[in-house]
Amino acid sequence: MNMKIAFVGKGGSGKTTLSSLFIRHLAAAGAPVVAIDADINQHLGPALGLDEDQAAALPAMGDRLPLIKDHLRGTNPRIASAETMIKTTPPGTGSRLVRISEPDAIYDACARPVELDGGAVRLMVTGPFTEADLGVACYHSKTGAVELFLNHLVDGPGEYVVVDMTAGSDSFASGMFTRFDMTFLVAEPTRKGVSVYRQYKEYARDFGVTLKVVGNKVQGPEDVDFLREEVGDDLLVTVGHSDWVRAMEKGRPPRFALLENGNVRALETLRDAADATHRLRDWERYTRQMVHFHLRNAQSWGNERTGADLAAQIDPGFVLGESVAAPA
Ligand SMILES: Nc1ncnc2c1ncn2[C@@H]1O[C@H](COP(=O)(O)OP(=O)(O)OP(=O)(O)O)[C@@H](O)[C@H]1O
Ligand SMILES: [Mg+2]
Repeated sequence: MNMKIAFVGKGGSGKTTLSSLFIRHLAAAGAPVVAIDADINQHLGPALGLDEDQAAALPAMGDRLPLIKDHLRGTNPRIASAETMIKTTPPGTGSRLVRISEPDAIYDACARPVELDGGAVRLMVTGPFTEADLGVACYHSKTGAVELFLNHLVDGPGEYVVVDMTAGSDSFASGMFTRFDMTFLVAEPTRKGVSVYRQYKEYARDFGVTLKVVGNKVQGPEDVDFLREEVGDDLLVTVGHSDWVRAMEKGRPPRFALLENGNVRALETLRDAADATHRLRDWERYTRQMVHFHLRNAQSWGNERTGADLAAQIDPGFVLGESVAAPA
């Protein structure tokens, strides 16, 4: 199955930990994976075993927006320049589409291979967030680079994109939160953990976002009961404290094959749940949502900022999908 998966949740809930375990799980099964760190706190590299220097040397997508835009617009005549391309500018005829397992200039510029037990994945990072990145109508938005990437991505069978993401307003103002086949909301069994779920659910409701809660740091049946009461059937699975994770955090990662059985089963549940959303995939809706958010962003700030009528960037007959021909 081909899947785009996001991990979201409150700060400190375990987004990075669970995304990194899930990425290791997929890699160990031999699946091609693009891992993306789009969180405010950039910790996915270290969670995948990079040391400080290696993590610091990762190229930031946020610093390469002009290159990304110029590349993705390809020969699309509706997009006159990279300067008029905003984070929501949708692809059209002539745009360059990216595939997970094929070479691409974006990977050359922004991705680095990370060796894991059983396989390598490609890691891309937005780069550290600044104050300005957290604004709602942000032109130079760091996550904008990821949104553009996802909007030009045609993922094929058996391939995965896993994004470690914040649940902040940035992803709701743009269409970022609608770009995933599956969104895993990581929640500790606390009122705060659950309140982030409620907010997300509210935004997600009108857009057909598939949202499942992954309980984390769950210590016993009372924690499970609490989550069940608060989120109902949206609770997919719960994860307890992991000694494997703790050892990794000490810089002594055991072999991944030594991850606790219960946690391996939880990861299998995540993969099955993600794979099962494949039948819900609807490229027309996916394209329509891009257009929706693009028009909203164009009106609220994009037209004014770029001095162009950004609605004209929309290619009315274009539907993204696996059958769209690759441009010459
Ligand atoms: N299941 C677990 N077992 C053991 N330790 C865990 C587990 N889940 C999370 N942790 C630890 O809790 C801390 C916070 O987790 P993590 O960094 O994954 O959260 P986050 O949601 O990504 O946080 P941030 O918002 O800061 O990015 C880390 O030190 C992590 O190792
Ligand atoms: Mg994190």
